[in-house]
Amino acid sequence: MKVLVLFGSPRKKGNTIQLVNAFSRILKDKGHSMKMLYLNDMNLRPCQGCYACLKEGVCRINDDMKDIRKFIGESDLIVYATPIYWFGPSGQLKLVMDRSIAFMDEEYNSRIKGKKAVTLMTFASDEKDTCQPALDMFKKTFDLLGLKYAGSIEVPACVDPPAAIRKAYIDKTTKLARSLA
Ligand SMILES: Cc1cc2nc3c(=O)[nH]c(=O)nc-3n(C[C@H](O)[C@H](O)[C@H](O)COP(=O)(O)O)c2cc1C
Repeated sequence: MKVLVLFGSPRKKGNTIQLVNAFSRILKDKGHSMKMLYLNDMNLRPCQGCYACLKEGVCRINDDMKDIRKFIGESDLIVYATPIYWFGPSGQLKLVMDRSIAFMDEEYNSRIKGKKAVTLMTFASDEKDTCQPALDMFKKTFDLLGLKYAGSIEVPACVDPPAAIRKAYIDKTTKLARSLA
């Protein structure tokens, strides 16, 4: 399997990366290929809403989304990893999701149907439903893109400075990875 991680946190030593590492370790050990994209380091412009992509199959903006598009196209499993920012994904990741309209055609059929998607999220609150708006958004978006939602890990009480993610959540994450490996 080719696995692509869309890493939405600007912090390479924060909370969310710990979930990504736990998840990736299992898949790597099983021989799957892993590609990690630090979205915060990439040159990405917001979607301009021109809809040219629906007809032309490619976005008119000439930036790093070209590479992301290529990696998404080649992948079997896409990991959407993000801190919760105001009940949604980080801007870095949302931007890639907006630009993913270029995967649709004029009839709104997806060009990336059938791939699997997983979400890994951390957030500061200890209220369970904090992630619900993001979960709803991911689910509806994946449905439209024809992606199969293969699982999600949401970890509460993740604050700054980052501390080790509790073992129960790391175990949950490795279990999810094993179920996909
Ligand atoms: C701009 C911003 C918005 C945030 N919004 C929320 C929020 O709505 N709910 C919440 O529980 N935590 C929120 N947080 C806290 C982060 O989600 C949390 O600390 C997360 O684990 C950070 O992940 P990271 O270390 O991987 O960057 C926010 C943090 C920032 C910087």
